[in-house]
Amino acid sequence: MEFLEKLFSLKGKTAVVTGGAQGIGKVVSSYLAGAGADIVIFDLQLEAAENVAEEITKERNVRACAFYCDVTNPDMVDKTIAEAAQKMGGLDILFNNAGICQHKSALEVTSEEWLKVINVNLNGVFYMARAFGKYLIENGRKGSIINTASMSGTIVNIPQEQASYNSSKAAVKHLTKSLAVEWSKKGVRVNSISPGYIKTEMTGTVRQDWQNFWTGLIPFGRMGLPEELAGAVIYLASDASTYTSGCDMIIDGCFTSI
Ligand SMILES: NC(=O)c1ccc[n+]([C@@H]2O[C@H](COP(=O)([O-])OP(=O)(O)OC[C@H]3O[C@@H](n4cnc5c(N)ncnc54)[C@H](O)[C@@H]3O)[C@@H](O)[C@H]2O)c1
Repeated sequence: MEFLEKLFSLKGKTAVVTGGAQGIGKVVSSYLAGAGADIVIFDLQLEAAENVAEEITKERNVRACAFYCDVTNPDMVDKTIAEAAQKMGGLDILFNNAGICQHKSALEVTSEEWLKVINVNLNGVFYMARAFGKYLIENGRKGSIINTASMSGTIVNIPQEQASYNSSKAAVKHLTKSLAVEWSKKGVRVNSISPGYIKTEMTGTVRQDWQNFWTGLIPFGRMGLPEELAGAVIYLASDASTYTSGCDMIIDGCFTSI
């Protein structure tokens, strides 16, 4: 056990999690804390994010706090990362996870709706990664960035039409590789996870007949749980993955294997 603890431990590290007020970000924050990391949540839902931080502090015995941060606002992103670094005494890990989805066909989606999705899912991920990478490199710190892409960056989901979401997630995968190569000699690793259908607020509000349809297509016969992504994020954040960068881990109950 001591051997495993040493390999995967995040003790002494601080992780920033975007979109940690609910869903995947909330659950993965708690698991990162379980592996020893202090946690900083960035979200639009400040009260919910503060409640998550309070729970984590109590349950995991680590430091945790929350900041209001809109990832689509690059000035706010830069400022909030500086504030978080000051408050926590240093940052090491970014779980770059905030995202939104919109079910609109390409013929019906307005330019504004298209831009909204691209702005959160691609631009937001870039602004966060750029600010975090800059912070690490300027301070001579090694670090790990894990972006949340999606299997929708590999396949096209049906029956819902969501070209904006699919395109944004395909772009996140290639952004991940691009940053990984740019920062490969600077001690900053950049990887992504690509979840399949996961039970969260995002998917839970979708019409039930679509959810049933998805489940019928998944070889595992069920949607995944946010907890089932946590091990991959801990691996990519920890020293167990020091030779891993530019990698995308698809975690989808075999959806993209068929
Ligand atoms: N749930 C799934 O099936 C699934 C599958 C593949 C990928 N993903 C991706 O995983 C990530 C998390 O998804 P989820 O299911 O937990 O979603 P969710 O809707 O439950 O949570 C998303 C969180 O992001 C926050 N957020 C949204 N816009 C933001 C912004 N501009 N700035 C800061 N925070 C913002 C929300 O307030 C919310 O707390 C997303 O990137 C999503 O695309 C989800």
